[in-house]
Amino acid sequence: MNSPAAVEMHGIEKGFAGTPVLRGVDFTLAPGEVHALAGGNGAGKSTLMKILQGVHSPDAGGIRVGGRKVEFGAPRDAEAAGIGMVFQEFSLVPTLTVARNIFLNHEPRRFGLIDDAAMVRRAREILTAMGVQFDPAAELSSLATGYWQLTEIAKALALDAKVLIMDEPTASLTKTESEALFELIERLKDQGVSIVYISHRMEEIYRICDRITVLRDGGVVLTDDVSALTPEQIVEAIVGRRMENALEWQERDSRPTDGAAPLLEVRNLTAGNGVTDMSLRLHAGEILGLAGLMGSGRTELARLVFGIDRADSGQILLRGEPAGISNPRIAIAKGIALVPEDRRRHGLVLEHAVRDNLLLPALGGLTRGGMVDDKRGDSLAAQLIERLQIKLSSPKRPVRLLSGGNQQKVVIGKWLAREPDVLILDEPTAGVDIGTKTEIIQRIRELADAGKAVIVISSELAELLAVSDRVLVLRRGTVTADLDRRDIADEESLQLAIQGV
Ligand SMILES: Nc1ncnc2c1ncn2[C@@H]1O[C@H](COP(=O)(O)OP(=O)(O)OP(=O)(O)O)[C@@H](O)[C@H]1O
Ligand SMILES: [Mg+2]
Repeated sequence: MNSPAAVEMHGIEKGFAGTPVLRGVDFTLAPGEVHALAGGNGAGKSTLMKILQGVHSPDAGGIRVGGRKVEFGAPRDAEAAGIGMVFQEFSLVPTLTVARNIFLNHEPRRFGLIDDAAMVRRAREILTAMGVQFDPAAELSSLATGYWQLTEIAKALALDAKVLIMDEPTASLTKTESEALFELIERLKDQGVSIVYISHRMEEIYRICDRITVLRDGGVVLTDDVSALTPEQIVEAIVGRRMENALEWQERDSRPTDGAAPLLEVRNLTAGNGVTDMSLRLHAGEILGLAGLMGSGRTELARLVFGIDRADSGQILLRGEPAGISNPRIAIAKGIALVPEDRRRHGLVLEHAVRDNLLLPALGGLTRGGMVDDKRGDSLAAQLIERLQIKLSSPKRPVRLLSGGNQQKVVIGKWLAREPDVLILDEPTAGVDIGTKTEIIQRIRELADAGKAVIVISSELAELLAVSDRVLVLRRGTVTADLDRRDIADEESLQLAIQGV
């Protein structure tokens, strides 16, 4: 007893350009505890942790680490005090190998030169300790996003941190990879490492966190033991109102009947990207969920349909005709839209205004004699911002200044606005808070009710089950089960199907 708190933040205040973001936040992290930091998109979670990490300095308030008062002028000061961070926005260099990224700026050297062999060896040790297996000598850009996340975690562990800040670490991990991470967290905890765990996923908070602090609009509204709270209490603290059955599935009246002609059909598709003899049918008015592990062919299928990758054999039919989609531009012209998994890289122009990012794909319908209709544009943007609860000071400010989850909402919002005939969403609510999650699911259902066809790829089974009419299970590039949502009892039975049990 009486050992000092691993971290104590007291009365923290922070504003950007006159807008207050944190308003006197107290936050205490005990030694060896996993402490959830929750709250809606833009509540101030990342900002608070960036202060602890020396990225931002607070306008007021103080920090103690291990009982000693500290002042961090730069991230390296925090690092020296044993604080490591797994960033929400990746801090990685895609053109370098996994090992180089893990040891970036701390490369093991021999005779003054970077010792690549030692680096790969130590990287492999860290990855093994994490319970994951992939090649540390591989160039990062050749790997899927999930591996980027694991590399980001390995990078923090390589620095021997005593306090580890994880900002939505599972946002792009599949269930199995998340499990490996949770086991790793248990192991670190036993070694006395304290962890701040930022997450929008309730089941994770209950699975691994001892305590929780909820921020709303930059203030603490709840701190307690997780075991003392019901999920409803936590959700209420996050959104500021009662919300029952947030992710409950309701059968839609307008779902297409059996035997209807498919809007999109994939026949025996095989491609170099890992899709093998894949077949599926998607009907107008239908929401089709794709479940599977990383590399099972979900994202790869989406890339083929959208014309990013080419198939070696097989067929894609749109409205009964060969689709002839050789690039994304043609896909868009034919009424297909894809919200990609790695949206920050592919979905946003970070320096451009939120409004312009939102309106980009809709521009065709908003021009009058070649000019963008400003009024209509403004009102459509305002509608999307309101609907998706995008938190910002002005739609004219660059997207870069939004919080992570609010950036996600901008990408999703712009494709929803276009109302394509076939909408493919890859991990649509990763990083999005619980309030907006239900709003996005509602919007997807409305699109389907209006006769559009939707494919949802999601590693979050609760969400997949809340939105889908039908779920296809993919394994090693092919469809292994085609399940009517009505026949899926619960998350567990879907999980078993995914693992092929
Ligand atoms: N560098 C910055 N300049 C201006 N505003 C900023 C900056 N960084 C953050 N903000 C604003 O501060 C607020 C809090 O952002 P923060 O990233 O801390 O939210 P968050 O709780 O992590 O949300 P999310 O769940 O979406 O990640 C947001 O409104 C955001 O726009
Ligand atoms: Mg954040």
